[in-house]
Amino acid sequence: MNFLKQQVVDFLNTYRIGKQVYYDDFFKETAQLSISENLKSPRRTAIINYLLALVDAENYLEIGVRDPKKNFNRIQCKNKFSVDPGIEFEDNPVDFKMTSDLFFDKFKSNKLKIKSDIKFDVIYIDGLHLSYQVEKDILNSLDLLNDNGFIILHDCNPPSVFHQREDYNFKNSPAKSFWNGTTWKAFYKVRHQSDLFSICFDTDWGVGILSRKQYPSFNNINCKVQNEFYEYSVLNESRQEHLNLSNFEQWTLLMEE
Ligand SMILES: C[S@@+](CC[C@H](N)C(=O)[O-])C[C@H]1O[C@@H](n2cnc3c(N)ncnc32)[C@H](O)[C@@H]1O
Repeated sequence: MNFLKQQVVDFLNTYRIGKQVYYDDFFKETAQLSISENLKSPRRTAIINYLLALVDAENYLEIGVRDPKKNFNRIQCKNKFSVDPGIEFEDNPVDFKMTSDLFFDKFKSNKLKIKSDIKFDVIYIDGLHLSYQVEKDILNSLDLLNDNGFIILHDCNPPSVFHQREDYNFKNSPAKSFWNGTTWKAFYKVRHQSDLFSICFDTDWGVGILSRKQYPSFNNINCKVQNEFYEYSVLNESRQEHLNLSNFEQWTLLMEE
């Protein structure tokens, strides 16, 4: 086959595959789910600020910051600390330019310029969105959390199986560049701990909240494992119960009662 003929064949193949994708039901439905999720409110920042005010917070820690204009700079708290190794945002203007693992190691061996007896009122975990790392971040954060404080997790409620793919770099799935990773698995797992109470607000891709204190509507999963293999289809059928998915505005009304 000569060069020109090959180019025509390649073009027709690309067109045929592109057309298949364009009209594919998975792509259409997933795009619609991304649009719906993006229309939900409030955003994570408003929820974080509400919880900070609720406990009259002094100290806030954010793990995974990227562009601080999007969230960190809008957080209202007396003392704010940030951790990020700078993978996604070159400037990376954070207090601790390192992974969360290294931050917690150094913190525990008193090698950071931060008081080693500090306790945080709110820790927002939004670093590497893979379940094993999120679980480590949660367990490490619990050691530094005030008794009535909150751990907040972004991306706990993926709207489709494609949003919760493991590989962030694969942008040709029906979820395109939207990515929640497998954070939901860590949140679901720690919801089985009897000393922790949690809720997930149904907005901004699922804002999961954990606390040692049982705030109204916070609960844990008090029965045998229902999603032994952490299948997305099982989450999808039971997300209300498995995540304790709730409406934020309604929850604030309960808090004001
Ligand atoms: C989703 S972005 C954070 C967005 C930000 N929190 C917000 O609400 O707008 C994820 C960030 O986590 C950082 N990150 C990746 N791996 C990390 C790790 N192991 N420890 C801490 N941060 C990590 C990335 O560099 C990236 O900036």
